[in-house]
Amino acid sequence: MASLVREGAFLADVGTDHAQLPAALMECGKIRGAVASDVNEGPVAHARETVRACGFEGQIDVLLTDGLAGLESYAPTDIVIAGMGGELIRDILAASPIPKKSGVRLILQPMTMQRELREYLSTGHFHISRELLSLDSNLNGRLYSILCAEYRADDAESPYSELELVVGRRLIEERPAHFEAYIARHLEILDVRIGGMDKAGLDTSGLKALRWDIAALL
Ligand SMILES: C[S@@+](CC[C@H](N)C(=O)[O-])C[C@H]1O[C@@H](n2cnc3c(N)ncnc32)[C@H](O)[C@@H]1O
Repeated sequence: MASLVREGAFLADVGTDHAQLPAALMECGKIRGAVASDVNEGPVAHARETVRACGFEGQIDVLLTDGLAGLESYAPTDIVIAGMGGELIRDILAASPIPKKSGVRLILQPMTMQRELREYLSTGHFHISRELLSLDSNLNGRLYSILCAEYRADDAESPYSELELVVGRRLIEERPAHFEAYIARHLEILDVRIGGMDKAGLDTSGLKALRWDIAALL
């Protein structure tokens, strides 16, 4: 995520928890300032402690707020929303005018429901310009997807197919590091779902067709 934040950005880190990302980006001089926000008091206290310990009280504001509410006056150029479900990220984006402001970059890291988040972005004139896969070797090789997007009212990209919504158009095009493991994980999850639905006598033809398309990417 840090690599997708632009040089000289004013960062909004929404759902910051510990404020480690804005603190690290201030430390290396990549951003000019940040607002670190969270809807819960414990994380806000944690974030304030990080900011104080790093000596960034003048550069990083910490706010207790829901989503992007009250962040308009900061005019953030880059917004990170990480470590939440894709539906919650979608709802936070949809509830605020800030993500549609010209030039604002969104850097999103959904823990679940990536398909729903891609659908919201791609049908809502948000152009997904890049997607990255990040491997956490400390967490049994858990893979994280990171989406980078910005609003373009005149975006002329063709509609996403179901395969592209589930896997990610940019990931299919670019096949970055860890792509094979990412696809294998999708197949495992689908196999469990299909097995359960088959047992229950439900129609799995759509899911089997999707599985076939995903397997063909390997
Ligand atoms: C798992 S932590 C992720 C922390 C950090 N962003 C990261 O990726 O390491 C999720 C954080 O999102 C916060 N959160 C959940 N819903 C939120 C909302 N609607 N607005 C702001 N923060 C929210 C939680 O309080 C929690 O601190």
